[in-house]
Amino acid sequence: MMGTRASIWFSLFVFSLLTSSICSEENESKEFVLTLDRSNFTDTVSKHKFIVVEFYAPWCGHCKSLAPEYEKAASILSSHDPPIVLAKVDASNETNRELANEFEIKGFPTIKILRDGGKAAQEYKGPREAEGIVTYLQKQSGPASLEIKSVEDASNFVGEKKIVVVGVFPKFSGEEFDNYTALAEKLRSDYEFGHTLDAKYLPRGETSVTGPVVRLFKPFDELYVDSKDFEVDALGKFVEESSIPLVTIFDNDPSNHPFVIKFFNNPNAKAMLFMNFSGETADSFRSKYGEVAEHYKGEAISFLLGDLDSSQGAFQYFGLKDDQVPLILIQTTDGTKYLKPNLEVDGIASWLKDYMDGKVPPYRQSEPIPEENKEPVKVVVGDSLEDMVLKSEKNVLLEFYAPWCGHCKSLAPILDEVAISFENDADVVIAKFDATANDYPTGTFNVEGYPTMYFKSASGKIVAYEGDRTKEAIIDFIEKNRDKAAAPQQELAKDEL
Ligand SMILES: *[C@@H]1O[C@H](CO)[C@@H](O)[C@H](O)[C@H]1NC(C)=O
Ligand SMILES: *[C@@H]1O[C@H](CO)[C@@H](O)[C@H](O)[C@H]1NC(C)=O
Ligand SMILES: *[C@@H]1O[C@H](CO)[C@@H](O)[C@H](O)[C@H]1NC(C)=O
Ligand SMILES: *[C@@H]1O[C@H](CO)[C@@H](O)[C@H](O)[C@H]1NC(C)=O
Repeated sequence: MMGTRASIWFSLFVFSLLTSSICSEENESKEFVLTLDRSNFTDTVSKHKFIVVEFYAPWCGHCKSLAPEYEKAASILSSHDPPIVLAKVDASNETNRELANEFEIKGFPTIKILRDGGKAAQEYKGPREAEGIVTYLQKQSGPASLEIKSVEDASNFVGEKKIVVVGVFPKFSGEEFDNYTALAEKLRSDYEFGHTLDAKYLPRGETSVTGPVVRLFKPFDELYVDSKDFEVDALGKFVEESSIPLVTIFDNDPSNHPFVIKFFNNPNAKAMLFMNFSGETADSFRSKYGEVAEHYKGEAISFLLGDLDSSQGAFQYFGLKDDQVPLILIQTTDGTKYLKPNLEVDGIASWLKDYMDGKVPPYRQSEPIPEENKEPVKVVVGDSLEDMVLKSEKNVLLEFYAPWCGHCKSLAPILDEVAISFENDADVVIAKFDATANDYPTGTFNVEGYPTMYFKSASGKIVAYEGDRTKEAIIDFIEKNRDKAAAPQQELAKDEL
């Protein structure tokens, strides 16, 4: 669940920015990315100490955006010493599906780093443009922790815009060092690790630090934090917790994006304040919001501050309007939302207090229930979902769509035909639901992309539709899964006699 959520967030927030760079340079000649399938996957992977595999689906838009970047990275990395091999698997292909299941692929694209001939698998968590992919994979293919031997090493390593973890040790052996190294192996796809014998190489270095100590550098809040607990799990917890900013910033700066992904990956309730970063009142909002975040530190709620300019994906997703900013939207883990539009600086603290005290009613987004609903494909909105689908005594095929989604547009005429073919069947309803403008129970429907189709049988059984998007396949699915109405059942009984 968590992983898939994160990937939809990642898509919404980060991919929306990349679309401009899609398909810039396509190299038609040699393909550097290996194509693998079930027949040669194990053989190929077992030959490599380090190989990267993308699981994709041909219909997935983000996979298409990634493809030229991935290919470009593969071409650059082919001349790395030793070469780093990038491969891809069409996970939508029936024959390869088992492979995808083995790696617990839940969304596309998913990239895995396989080590030791496939004995260890790790999720790729790096950037999605060529240069970023190259840098990330060069680091991933090297040692899990780099030794820092000079001030230059340290300033190259620590940088100014990322989180890095440095272990300071009196010697590179012993239980503390071993535990640190084990943690670095475990978390290497999320963080960069280094180790040194001398704390004075480090930025803001102090001669007083002798170690063993682990120092986490971060480009926000208190800038660095130390831990001396070398128990592996405790150290991991320290790294995870210290690396979430008090307020996560979402704007066009790619160096902020890893923190945005972390924000959406953490299990807390999520408070998101969206405003125009260039507006006159931006600074006062920023500082007040920071105070509030500080106040609720440790209370299972995380804070994000988003720039209107960069948040179009999120606005579409939540059905928010530009003229509602500054606004705060809170989403809890179960998907319940709370909204305060047209916020004023003086109102931030008191609205959050009301929310924490349980005094803010949840916000359910719904378009008005249409007065007429005569088209073959019926329109369902947030306020009619209960009556028309969940509590309906009919068999309902429901499409979750987004108005801007191209695949949904291609599906529309097919759904029309399906609906027309059931026109004389009062027990079957084909319906559509604009999921960008209406809320639905996220526990019941898991919508990770558009279009997503669900089928609810007359007796209330809900199943996801994962077949082909053709008229024949959809009709076939409905016939197989529907509850037989009283009348045809009698006919069947007669036939049997
Ligand atoms: C694996 O097999 C597929 C089809 O059977 C083929 O297209 C592909 O080139 C093969 N890959 C390698 C690395 O041999
Ligand atoms: C699945 O892959 C195999 C081998 O790579 C290929 O022969 C087959 O046509 C593919 N099936 C589909 C439905 O694309
Ligand atoms: C190293 O980690 C192990 C396992 O978490 C733990 O039992 C041990 O106490 C740790 N050693 C030190 C010095 O903290
Ligand atoms: C943000 O504010 C600036 C300055 O007031 C204005 O020029 C810009 O159009 C605003 N951006 C949006 C998206 O409203």
